[in-house]
Amino acid sequence: TVTVVHTIAELRARIKTFRRSSEQTVGFVPTMGYLHEGHASLLKKACAQSGLVVLSIFVNPLQFGPNEDFERYPRNPERDLAVAEAAGADLVFMPSVEEMYPQPIRTTVSVSGVTERLCGASRPGHFDGVATVVSKLLHIVQPDQAFFGMKDAQQVAVIEQMVQDLNLDVEIVRCPTLREEDGLAMSSRNVYLTQDEREQALVLSQALNKAEAYIAKQAVISSKALVDLVSSHIRTAPLADIDYVEALTYPTLQPFETSPLSDTIVIAVAVKFGKTRLIDNLITQVR
Ligand code: PAJ
Repeated sequence: TVTVVHTIAELRARIKTFRRSSEQTVGFVPTMGYLHEGHASLLKKACAQSGLVVLSIFVNPLQFGPNEDFERYPRNPERDLAVAEAAGADLVFMPSVEEMYPQPIRTTVSVSGVTERLCGASRPGHFDGVATVVSKLLHIVQPDQAFFGMKDAQQVAVIEQMVQDLNLDVEIVRCPTLREEDGLAMSSRNVYLTQDEREQALVLSQALNKAEAYIAKQAVISSKALVDLVSSHIRTAPLADIDYVEALTYPTLQPFETSPLSDTIVIAVAVKFGKTRLIDNLITQVR
């Protein structure tokens, strides 16, 4: 059964006890809760590889902009614990904001280079908030492996860069995006969508599928052609308000005109449906 821990001190003590009694590894899955099957897939992967699986549930105020959805971000701790237990978590860390930020934080982790575009451009300060809280959590948990979803491909690039630059002793494990049956990428924010918005939100995964089919047929990939193809499909949904559609190298997140051979690229999209901003991406190897 799963043990719920609210303080940093108790979490550290429990992990220390495990380390003393076991040679097995510690796996860590950081989340903001309102868990869905995407989160559960990270936990299951952690379970398969680790002796102790630690899940954190913390809606991190530092990564939300002033006009974003921090206050109304969906929360359901009881259901989260049931999902966590079913997926095999051993320890669930659910700190209060006070516990994580007892005083205004004066040290932040800021990753450059991979944060200038995509969500880094449209959500100023967001990735400083993410890098700072993930750095704190990695220092608290000290896991052997930490599991992140490719749904947030730029977040993975940011965390990998931070781990490399700061010599953090953790392996970052990239996990595939889980989707609803019709293709919509699972997200805690999907609950915000009205029925019309939910139906039209399908254009995201459809557009990325079109891009994938296009790439498979082309010898040379032009970034502009990809962006045009994806944007024009998204625009077929009247409720879709495009924030960005970009094709970049991955994980370096640099623009290209025509993709060099055997390069990995990401096509990343952020689209608003009403008040709800959805992201999705396709990562593919160009042959
Ligand atoms: P959150 O949005 O709750 O996501 C937690 C983890 O679940 C992230 O690694 C995310 O990429 C992954 N995830 C979300 N949807 C997924 C899906 N459909 N398939 C697979 N994985 C998925 O990302 C955050 O929280 C925060 O920024 C955090 C890293 C916890 C820092 O506060």
